[in-house]
Amino acid sequence: MKTDTLHTEDIRLYDVKKIREDFPILKKTVHGKPLCYLDNAATTQKPQIVLDTLNTYYTSMNSNIHRGVHYLSGVATDAFEKARIKVKDFINANSEKEIIFTRGTTESINLVANSFGRANIKEGDEIIISHMEHHSNIVPWQLLALEKKAKLRIIPINDKGELLSNEFEKLITDRTKLVSIVYVSNSLGTINPVEHIIETSHKYNIPVLLDAAQAVKHLPVDVQTLDCDFLAFSGHKLYGPTGIGVLYGKENLLDSMPPFMGGGDMISKVTFEQTTYNELPFKFEAGTSNIADAIGLGTAIDYISSIGMDNIASYEKNLLNYATEALSQIDGLKIIGQAEEKCSVISFIFDNIHPHDVGTLLDYEGIAIRTGHHCTQPVMQRFNIPATSRASFALYNTTDEVDTLVSGIKKVIEVFK
Ligand SMILES: Cc1ncc(COP(=O)(O)O)c(C=O)c1O
Repeated sequence: MKTDTLHTEDIRLYDVKKIREDFPILKKTVHGKPLCYLDNAATTQKPQIVLDTLNTYYTSMNSNIHRGVHYLSGVATDAFEKARIKVKDFINANSEKEIIFTRGTTESINLVANSFGRANIKEGDEIIISHMEHHSNIVPWQLLALEKKAKLRIIPINDKGELLSNEFEKLITDRTKLVSIVYVSNSLGTINPVEHIIETSHKYNIPVLLDAAQAVKHLPVDVQTLDCDFLAFSGHKLYGPTGIGVLYGKENLLDSMPPFMGGGDMISKVTFEQTTYNELPFKFEAGTSNIADAIGLGTAIDYISSIGMDNIASYEKNLLNYATEALSQIDGLKIIGQAEEKCSVISFIFDNIHPHDVGTLLDYEGIAIRTGHHCTQPVMQRFNIPATSRASFALYNTTDEVDTLVSGIKKVIEVFK
């Protein structure tokens, strides 16, 4: 069933054609063909309103924030702090003190590893992650484990690409100090049962970090309902600019943590003998922040909120079902990642065609997909494959584009016959 225009639960019309008009890059042609952009797990395109915000910032507000007494500094500071409030409301944090601007998910996780981790994890302690983590939720913990002589424990996954939640509780010991888990897998599309993970961890007083890099653009995320302790995401995957991201942390935890980086803005008083740190959230925002892009992220949040996260989730679910059905009909195509709870990602392989060849030939058709290990090499090892081709969808993709993908793949198959 085609679902480009559908009535969602709150009876609002999801007009994908109108939404596409908001994204100038979608009018582009590539190799003479209309761009069919299906690499949204890597990064999303930006609506005009976000581009306008960046332009307006640099043409009428550009100034450094928090420390100036002049007019422009006040305007820029206001806009930056308003963006923080938009992020707070978007994920329903309790206070803007809990919203730290970073460069992205990677930096947010590294912040927790270097601050919370170095302060709390000692020799013999354990950190639990899963087999489907992005490298940015593996390597920071490995570095920490190496330094502290701590251990990583890994939640296994099944052949459908689902976490073995029953195994999870068995991994918890009295040495477990943190659970850090991906909410939505970027290579499999699996939506993990994070509510269960959080509830179980909290029974043992273990804090939980959620890597929500993929989740925030596909699902409504409410940190108070989830009760996660930390949550990390990137602006560029949420229709916002690159170079800006967010770490959410519960205020009491962030308060108890030492700074990650030292420098301007994160201090209250500096003498050569001693430095006292600024209050939250500034304690974790050393140096000049990425002001324009934080404000741009605020606009991206306004944009998606105007469509409604529930509407987006429901539209994308229909689109994924349509794409899964269409791709499943293709002879020889095997989908990697068939979790019951899944969103917006289809990874696939052929026995006789390398994913890089699939990606290169589809590119000639104007179709942008991603090929490779998607920064999840342990997932590739688990399925005993070198790489996959991955189509990933966003709020502006259509069933017509899925059809274009299917005919593109059929052309690739012809080449390799
Ligand atoms: C699940 C997941 N975690 C973390 C990251 C890292 O995000 P960034 O490169 O924006 O820091 C990504 C990026 O693809 C991701 O998909």
